[in-house]
Amino acid sequence: GHEEAADHSIGNGGELHQAAGETHPPMSSQRGLIIADDENSLKANERGPVLIEDHLLIEKTQHFDHERIPERVVHARGYGAKGYFELTDSLEGISKAGVLTRVGEKTPAFVRFSTVAGNAGSSDLARDVRGFAVKMYTPEGNWDIVGNNIPVFFIQDSIKFTDLIHSVKQEPDRGFPQAQSAHDTFWDFVSLVPESTHMLMWIMSDRAIPRSFRMMEGFGVHTFRLINNAGKSTYVKFHWRPKLGMESVIWDEALKISGADPDFHRRDLWNAIDEGNFPEWELGVQLFDEEFAQSFDFDVLDATKLIPEETLPLRIIGKLVLDRNVDNYFAETEQVAFATTNVVPGIDFSNDPLLQGRNLSYIDTQLTRLGTPNYQQIPVNAPRCPVMNMQRDGHHQMLPQKGRVSYSPSSLEADAPRPDAVKGFSSFKAHEEGDKMRVRAASFADHFSQALQFFNSQTEPEQNHIVSAFIFELSKVETKAIRTRMLGQLANVDATIAQRVADGLGMTEPIKPAATTVTVRTDLKVSPAL
Ligand code: HEM
Repeated sequence: GHEEAADHSIGNGGELHQAAGETHPPMSSQRGLIIADDENSLKANERGPVLIEDHLLIEKTQHFDHERIPERVVHARGYGAKGYFELTDSLEGISKAGVLTRVGEKTPAFVRFSTVAGNAGSSDLARDVRGFAVKMYTPEGNWDIVGNNIPVFFIQDSIKFTDLIHSVKQEPDRGFPQAQSAHDTFWDFVSLVPESTHMLMWIMSDRAIPRSFRMMEGFGVHTFRLINNAGKSTYVKFHWRPKLGMESVIWDEALKISGADPDFHRRDLWNAIDEGNFPEWELGVQLFDEEFAQSFDFDVLDATKLIPEETLPLRIIGKLVLDRNVDNYFAETEQVAFATTNVVPGIDFSNDPLLQGRNLSYIDTQLTRLGTPNYQQIPVNAPRCPVMNMQRDGHHQMLPQKGRVSYSPSSLEADAPRPDAVKGFSSFKAHEEGDKMRVRAASFADHFSQALQFFNSQTEPEQNHIVSAFIFELSKVETKAIRTRMLGQLANVDATIAQRVADGLGMTEPIKPAATTVTVRTDLKVSPAL
């Protein structure tokens, strides 16, 4: 028996079938030690116990044991690709950003598309918002537009984001559903939060089940600022428009595709790029000033509203082309870290309270997700321009930081980095005054006009899809009071839409409009309109 076993063994004198040579370089350990046998662990004898001396077995197993990092707390399922942004129309005089003024310059870009609610292993075709996150490696630092394929959002204030996401994610006791909104907790929350109504219309529409990542729009959602050399601010909204046009699938198709190929969207993107069919988007901007902003009966700082393109047409200023797949999904797509705070001089924030909260959340979550304060040094995140400051050390520090000086001001070294008031980022000098308070501005109060406007902008088949999506989703809600409240919310938009959904659900009671605000404590100072 012993001799027979020796004949079948590989290495230790047996024949090595998978050996280095010709085009195959030698395999090595993390420490660079060339490995002679990757098939057998080190044993005390032919049939003996495995020895703790087998550092190669230990290294390999230990690395495997630590392969996973936490998935993103939202947008866990996503797919990335590389390409470039090219400016075609300069915003000279409006923004001092090089990326928005140097026509013809190709800025390397990394894009990650995603769903929001599902876990990393969920299906691509879920009814959900799609993330559309673009990182541009400009010579002045990284600029990210961390957008979605829907131009508005569920909530107005980032303090409600935790609640929104908890309501849409799998329920904490049962751990399901993973990727569908069709459950009580989600509809419980949104029916109590009337500001979500406009977004609900979009989410129940065909926009929420794209045919392909290549056929979706993208939106920066918030109002941002552009700042020129004189320090003047112009408001801006960013839109990506797909060259292939927008296409969606209907729910029936989505269900079948989900069953047959849960990787449908990622496979489509990979194959298209692999075959040289490079997807392309135009970058359009809506530019406006404070006076124009004041002319609306909604607030441009309210992320549940959009500025209709009929009112303010897009100015197309550039294009985004995705022409390379990633080399390694984990290294790039999984480790990429987008943040709304990645802006360059010439681009700045507005007071949108959702944006202000996001400005903390991304960089904070990435500390945990990527496990180090030095995650910006991971190649997919690293700026393609010099990085020099007085920050030192931390897990996985890779920068070759030399010298004695790690503080500022300093006088000991001629090449110590110092701030540059001309080239540097300086925040827009916004004038602020008033009482400090927890409040929702009165100008944020109309939650229904744009919901109706969106419904009316749809063709008849598209409107029918919205109505049937509400019926299908609400039919899965077990708690009758939630369905009733949601019908009341729809009645605030339009009695006919509410009635059509009620009929579909077989709910015959008269529909009473639901509360149009979340109840607030009356002892707090709130705007009179609330
Ligand atoms: C992730 C968009 C609101 C927190 C993402 C991603 C996108 C996105 C596209 C995925 C990025 C990627 O592919 O890696 C948006 C949009 C919002 C919004 C368009 C509203 C207009 C918020 C708010 C918060 C938030 C209000 C928190 C206050 C996060 C977090 C992640 C994330 C923590 C995970 C980031 C990571 O782990 O790298 N968001 N988001 N988002 N978002 Fe948002």
